Amino acid sequence: MSPSPIDVARARADTSGCRDLIHFNNAGAALPADIVLRTQIEHLELEARIGGYEAHDAATERISAIYASVARLVNGSVSEIALSTSNTAVLDMFVYSLPWAAGDRILTTQSEYGANYVAYLHIAARTGAVVEVVPNNEAGELDVDALERMIDDRVKLISVNHVPTNGGLVNPAAAIGKVANAHGIPYLLDACQSAGQIPLDVEAIGCDALTATGRKFVRGPRGTAFLWVRQSLLETIDPITIDHDAATWTSPTTYELKPDASRFEVWEKGWAGLLGLGAAIDYALDWGLDNIQDRIVEVAESLRTRLTDEVPDAEVRDLGTNRCGIVTFSLGDRDLPTLKTELQQQGINVSIVPPASALLDTMARDLPPLIRASLHIYNTHDEIDALISALGAG
Ligand SMILES: Cc1ncc(COP(=O)(O)O)c(C=O)c1O
Repeated sequence: MSPSPIDVARARADTSGCRDLIHFNNAGAALPADIVLRTQIEHLELEARIGGYEAHDAATERISAIYASVARLVNGSVSEIALSTSNTAVLDMFVYSLPWAAGDRILTTQSEYGANYVAYLHIAARTGAVVEVVPNNEAGELDVDALERMIDDRVKLISVNHVPTNGGLVNPAAAIGKVANAHGIPYLLDACQSAGQIPLDVEAIGCDALTATGRKFVRGPRGTAFLWVRQSLLETIDPITIDHDAATWTSPTTYELKPDASRFEVWEKGWAGLLGLGAAIDYALDWGLDNIQDRIVEVAESLRTRLTDEVPDAEVRDLGTNRCGIVTFSLGDRDLPTLKTELQQQGINVSIVPPASALLDTMARDLPPLIRASLHIYNTHDEIDALISALGAG
């Protein structure tokens, strides 16, 4: 592999949290760069000093710039971006707003995230729509040929994750887009775990909507998220809920939906957090998402190899041909909650994958509880050494 252009020392110097901590829970919530924290604190201080509404007015240019940053991250337009609080909030807003009827089909993945899947089931229970899972190919990715075979005129949404919560799998987003576009079916990509670690280009992918959360690989604050919806589609969608920001109240009996993606927003927002999200995206774009991806893949592959070679009972469970920064593994019959606490006492953060976070995949692969170590650009080979030795290398 060619040397990574990421200056790891600088990435670490930019991130105070790295100093005393080995953070392998970037798929939960990554450590923010200091600029992200400073941006939030400055805005909170401004709100406390001059008033929340006045601070908003003072920051209007920087607030507009958040939308521009998100647009650059995904290669969309500013008018196609809605800001929100979580991936689930924006994904639900989009999916529930589609005009469901009995017999409509939602096609999704075996590795779909629990929050998404229960929302599809809820919609199905309310409307008579049906949820169907596209099988995996041999590599464990969504099988694009099987998807093609499942298409008929009752398919009203293809809704898939780019990267699941429970492993290093990267689904073939652009190949899925080709099928969706060939049949004119709306295609929603859940980029919650890919945004910030994999370059995203909605034109190259061919999706019609994309969701992501701020706190994971984007390294933004908690409670921040965004939705991108293609302009030609968003104009046709009647949001499931609206307020006086999503629509203009034009007379006692009428309102007009906003012509852009703000029809999916609510008026009240945590601007300090969202400004932090903008700073996090700008910070990532400065590094370059290709560079970030190269570095993350390099350290994640190294961890996989070392787990397999050096840790007795460790079995890496990641699927897919091109794996990303999420590494999941089982450890025989070791008690994982105890292990997680012991690691945390040694300054090492990992997480445990709850079986129901991707229930269909857990069941189909008969997965035991897994440790998830998810890596970012500031993680080092020395930190991997520390994890391997804390796990008890053989
Ligand atoms: C693939 C995937 N989709 C959606 C979500 C939900 O994100 P949020 O907690 O921001 O709603 C997660 C969270 O872990 C996830 O991993």
